[in-house]
Amino acid sequence: MNERLTHFTEVSHCSPQQLQELLDLAHKISQDIRAFENTRTGRMLVNLFYEASTRTRVSFEAAAKRLGMHVINISATGSSVEKGETLTDTFYTIQAMGPDCIVVRHPEEGNAAKLAELAEPGVHVINAGDGTAAHPSQALLDALTLKQSFQDFGEIRLVMAGDIRHSRVARSAIRLLQMLGVGEIRLAGPPEFMPGDGTTRGTRVFNDLDSAVEGANAIMMLRIQRERISGLDIPDADEYHREWGLNAERLGLASQGCHVLHPGPMNRGVEIASGVADGSQSLIRRQVRNGLYSRMALLLTLTRAQA
Ligand code: CP
Repeated sequence: MNERLTHFTEVSHCSPQQLQELLDLAHKISQDIRAFENTRTGRMLVNLFYEASTRTRVSFEAAAKRLGMHVINISATGSSVEKGETLTDTFYTIQAMGPDCIVVRHPEEGNAAKLAELAEPGVHVINAGDGTAAHPSQALLDALTLKQSFQDFGEIRLVMAGDIRHSRVARSAIRLLQMLGVGEIRLAGPPEFMPGDGTTRGTRVFNDLDSAVEGANAIMMLRIQRERISGLDIPDADEYHREWGLNAERLGLASQGCHVLHPGPMNRGVEIASGVADGSQSLIRRQVRNGLYSRMALLLTLTRAQA
């Protein structure tokens, strides 16, 4: 690796070479996970989650445990956050107990990066999602899933559809896939769910899903991020599904064998039909599995200096 990774808060803080090396390592782990087990015995990982999570929190825990690390899980609910403790004080408190890695999910943008600046040498901060800004380890597992399905990133014509505006998954995936040389990214969603910032740079924007899907060879559907929406009407679920949901008929407009992805959690019958989510073209469960491999690769890489 050209420079050692200390923290992982945003994909654009990594070089393309570092990202390729993380993906190569995750791929190697996927082929022989046992060879990597217990290679970080005695190290400690703390999951510090201020928002709900199933996949991210559990896969960081599973990844760390496969590597032989101790894991401590802290949720804002039930912790001294409820007594008014600030994020910074909570971080310093956890850091004083000597963890190697602190995985942070927080509703406000930029907080993982702020904590990384406060970290002592040997403590690695990982962003598990900050507001609408970034979810870099999700991008890593999405890229691994695509890497396993295509010979080259340049071949990929990926549609990302739904609530792009409030999606940290979309922002991180777009940035990472562009750094890896993806062929084309098409964004599709209702106008109120399209971002007004630089997220769309280098992408093609569509205002109907059928046109976006035509000829695509990968489609990633995104849920409506209800918890981040204020000042906008939440669309009616049935109407949204008719216009913006991925069903079998729409999928038929894509290239034959087009892969279907979703970061989860899914809202079946809203952005994706059950038949598509569970169908033969779906890579959704593989994404979850790849979350384990990608996060093992990340933990191995961050803690390499101390190995
Ligand atoms: N994809 C994702 O971040 O899922 P969780 O919210 O369940 O962690």
